[in-house]
Amino acid sequence: TWMILERWICLLNLWIKNGHVLDPANHLDEVCDVYVKEGKVACVGSLSSDKIPDECTVIDAEGKYVMPGLVDLHVHLREPGFEYKETIYSGTHAMAKGGFTAVCPMPNTKPVTDSPAMIEKILKIAKTDSPIRVYPVGAVTKGQLGEEMTDIAGMVKAGAKAISEDGKSVMNAEIYREAMKEAKKAGIPVLAHCEDKNMVGHGAMNAGEKAKELGICGITNAVEDVIVARDIIMSKEAGCQLHLCHCSTKDSAVLIKIAKEQGLSVTGEVCPHHFTMSDDQITEDHGRFKMNPPLRSKEDVEALRGALRDGIMDAISTDHAPHGAKEKNQSMKKAPFGIVGIENSFALGYTELVKKGYLTL
Ligand code: DOR
Ligand code: ZN
Ligand code: ZN
Repeated sequence: TWMILERWICLLNLWIKNGHVLDPANHLDEVCDVYVKEGKVACVGSLSSDKIPDECTVIDAEGKYVMPGLVDLHVHLREPGFEYKETIYSGTHAMAKGGFTAVCPMPNTKPVTDSPAMIEKILKIAKTDSPIRVYPVGAVTKGQLGEEMTDIAGMVKAGAKAISEDGKSVMNAEIYREAMKEAKKAGIPVLAHCEDKNMVGHGAMNAGEKAKELGICGITNAVEDVIVARDIIMSKEAGCQLHLCHCSTKDSAVLIKIAKEQGLSVTGEVCPHHFTMSDDQITEDHGRFKMNPPLRSKEDVEALRGALRDGIMDAISTDHAPHGAKEKNQSMKKAPFGIVGIENSFALGYTELVKKGYLTL
C-alpha cells in the first residue's frame, strides 16, 4: 500500500508520519515523515511534533509507501470522439486513484489531435475535468493518414509535449524524417509506435504455437523490430530524441542497447502486460487478449525484464487503451486492439517486478 501527494491537497498542511519514503531523484529510501505546507513538500525526515503547526492533517502512513506522483507517458484518453470508451474525466480520475499525477494522452482521437486547435481543445477540457496534469501528444501526420506532416511547431506552441502517430507507424520514411527534424527544432521527443503495416497483415496475436493452436493469424517479432531499427537510424540522421513505445520483443531491447552505446538520444518503454504475461497464457480466442503489440513469448518477457533491470528500457507506461464492452467481447479477429490498466498498473505491474527481484522500489 502507498499514498499519493495529489493536487487536491494543495491548500492543506499535511504531516505524513512513518511512511516508507521513496524518492529516486533525491536518493531517498527510508522510513520517515513528510511535511507538506500549502501543497508543497516542506520537509522530509524525522519531525518532532513541536515543529509541526497545529492546523495540519496528520496521516499515519506506517506500512505504506510515500512517493512522488507517477507519470504515465502513454495513455489513450479517447476524448474527443470516443467518449463511450473513456473520457478525459474518467481516465484521469482513475489515474489519480492509481497514483498518477501526470499523463500524456495519445492523439488517435476523433478528430485526430493533429492541430494547434485540437491541442488547445484537449487542454481546455483537462483544465476543468482532470485532477492530474495533462501533457497532450500531437499526431505526426494530418488525420494520421501518413501523407502530410502536421504543424508541429504550432502544436508545441499550443502545449503539445511530444509527437506520435501511435496506433500505427508513419510508413513513409521521408515524411517521418522531416517530422523528426521539426520535432528536434521544436525541442520535443518523437514517440514511436513500431509496426510495419505491410508485414502485419491480418495478425491478431503473437505468431507462435498458441496462434497456430487457436487458428489465428500471427504477428511476428520482425513486424516491430524492422521499424525499431528504421526509426533509430532515422533519428540519428534527424538528430531528434526518439522514444520507442511499448517495446515487446527481445530484439527491440538489443537495438536500443546498440543505439545507447552509440550515444544516441533513444529511450525505450515497456508496458506492464508485456513484462508480466506471455502468449502461452492466452486461454481462448477472446478479444480481451488482443492488444498491439501482442503478448509475446516467454523468452521476450524475460528479455524485457532484464532490459528494465539493466536500464536499457527507461520507462514503464501502460498504453491504457480502453474500448466498449461489446467491441471487446468478440473473437480476436473481430475485436479491436487494446488492454486497460491505469488504476491498478503500479500495484500489479511494478510491484511484480520488485517481487521477482528485477527492480528495487
Ligand atoms: O493495443 C493498442 N491499442 N495498440 C495501439 O497501438 C492502439 C491502441 C488503441 O488506440 O486502441
Ligand atoms: Zn501503439
Ligand atoms: Zn498506444
